[in-house]
Amino acid sequence: LNSRQPIVAIDGPAGAGKSTVARQVAAALGLVYLDTGAMYRALTWLVLDSGIDINDLPAIAQLASSCQIQLASSTDLENPVRVWINDREVTQHIRSLEVTAHVSKVASQSAVRQELLRQQQRWGQKGGLVAEGRDIGTHVFPNAELKIFLTASVRERARRRQQDFEHQGQVTLTLEQLEKSIAERDFLDSTRELAPLQKAADAMEICTDGLSIAEVTAKIISLYHDLGY
Ligand code: DC
Repeated sequence: LNSRQPIVAIDGPAGAGKSTVARQVAAALGLVYLDTGAMYRALTWLVLDSGIDINDLPAIAQLASSCQIQLASSTDLENPVRVWINDREVTQHIRSLEVTAHVSKVASQSAVRQELLRQQQRWGQKGGLVAEGRDIGTHVFPNAELKIFLTASVRERARRRQQDFEHQGQVTLTLEQLEKSIAERDFLDSTRELAPLQKAADAMEICTDGLSIAEVTAKIISLYHDLGY
């Protein structure tokens, strides 16, 4: 049983830098990167694409229980994680404003969380991964060897999102609009009944305001080595 490889859990609100940091930590430590937000996004895309009403919970539960999600890392820096749902590639679709606006609602459903939790835990059976999301340290992998809770101020996160959009050539919202949407998603994700965004009691909190990606990555790698790995 102890042959399981270590798991690094990285949780935190939208825009705290989790994805980039988790990816770089995984690459540096030779671990697999698991983006659980991409799974909730893929299912949300499927709900919207199927024309299902976002409030039709039984229909959403039905889709969740029958969906097949695949993830693969890619060398494309713009889209470092490739995502398929039921064999359709949705790598770019899942980052749209429409998916982003509806994902919290879909992710708050119990049938959805049960199914995706099952898939995530199956991938984690052998360990050896850096898993990123909202409930990794609290629910998905409560026995993770290292738990990190990444935060940043709303202003800083809005600024980062704006830069991402500009970089991808997407329509950018104003800073105020982005702050509002980030604060809304924080509120929904941290006040929902099931597996809300929450710092695990044994997680290390890192506020990334004013820190570069490289600095945050180095800090996590050093915490990992401190554990003796
Ligand atoms: O990290 P992200 O923005 O790609 O996540 C998209 C949404 O998915 C986020 O608003 C909340 C939800 N999510 C979740 O509920 N649990 C996770 N482990 C990961 C994401």
